[in-house]
Amino acid sequence: MSLRLQAHLGTLRQMEILLAVYDSGSVSGAAETLHLTQPTISMQLKKLADVIGFPLYNIVGRKVVFTEAGLEVVKSATEILDSFARLEMSLSDMGELKSGTLRLAVVTTSKYFIPHLLGPFCERYPNVAVQLNVGNRQQIIERLKQGIDDFYVFSHPPADLNTDSIEFFNNPLVAIAQENHPLVSQDGVSLAELCDAPFLMRENGSGTRLAIERFMAKQGVKLNVKMTIESNEAIKHSVMSGLGVSILSAHTLAFGGNTGLAQLNVKELPINSNWYFLWLKSKRPSAIAQAFLTHVESEGREMLLTELAKHRL
Ligand code: PGA
Repeated sequence: MSLRLQAHLGTLRQMEILLAVYDSGSVSGAAETLHLTQPTISMQLKKLADVIGFPLYNIVGRKVVFTEAGLEVVKSATEILDSFARLEMSLSDMGELKSGTLRLAVVTTSKYFIPHLLGPFCERYPNVAVQLNVGNRQQIIERLKQGIDDFYVFSHPPADLNTDSIEFFNNPLVAIAQENHPLVSQDGVSLAELCDAPFLMRENGSGTRLAIERFMAKQGVKLNVKMTIESNEAIKHSVMSGLGVSILSAHTLAFGGNTGLAQLNVKELPINSNWYFLWLKSKRPSAIAQAFLTHVESEGREMLLTELAKHRL
């Protein structure tokens, strides 16, 4: 309670004492319940009456009779103390992970494996709700700047924000084509041949696109971008239907399926990057966030590598 409010309305302890007098109907009863002396009770209630500016009760015979102002204070004190009790209970539930929400914001390419991490976590903490937001790299950076979520998953994290991170595992970007594309049967595909083929590129703001553009610039070559498509799945389907070739994270195929697609054997590929779990240094982790990080570090990585091995291309 702020000092200003306290100066006008008394302390929580004084309200507790007032309610004990109200409930027991006497100063002696309240003294017994709260293990205080009767003079302490009377003195505290006098202080409360002084800050409020009205008498709270009168002693009539040996009975405590509350004034109208006293009854008003009793009513509000009951609400205030109930609300504090509820707050205490929900904080303790959060501490024991009996309630609360885990908020994750992940780049689209990681949505293929994140659910495999969440499954066992939700099984262990069935009362924890999960909010999973998916967007491209730029959209997730915007959320990170606002500090909305507990964790962020990137494979190309922004370098200019004050974050901590753990490296998770490798994210290879591979070239794909329709399974009966002429380049598939070739022993090896040169970068020049890849660059000649119509290329399907992720949208501006995508981390996959950023990685491809950096890589091609470094190799001194230029892709023949035919279409810009805002989704890994839509790119896979477009490649499948012969619209062009592309470069995507191998995890979009391993976890998301590769029917009708084949990997091209380009000597310079894959483009190697890593997955990272990130969080803002300035954000104090909740008990749930801490439990999730422990889960990710202690068993999540192993679990995913096992899962990935099952789906090896
Ligand atoms: P994307 O991001 O899903 O936006 O392409 C992947 C990444 O951060 O590398």
